[in-house]
Amino acid sequence: MVDGETVEALTGDTVMTMLLLRGRDLRGFEFGDERRAGFCLIGVCQDCWVRRADGTPLRACTTLIEPGMALVTRGTENA
Ligand code: FES
Repeated sequence: MVDGETVEALTGDTVMTMLLLRGRDLRGFEFGDERRAGFCLIGVCQDCWVRRADGTPLRACTTLIEPGMALVTRGTENA
């Protein structure tokens, strides 16, 4: 689930590819209203942090999707 919505993913998808290929962004920008989509895609820039539903942060570009995973991408900008 992403932000309470059921989504499908393929084996081998990262969190980032799953979100972006389904037309979603990754997270909010800390300094404005814009939404972010990551930058480097290789685990360097730190621009793709999202959270599990329990609040644990994860880097979307280097984290593989797991069955039953629940993610939050909204309202975490100041967390
Ligand atoms: S997109 Fe740069 S660390 Fe994930």
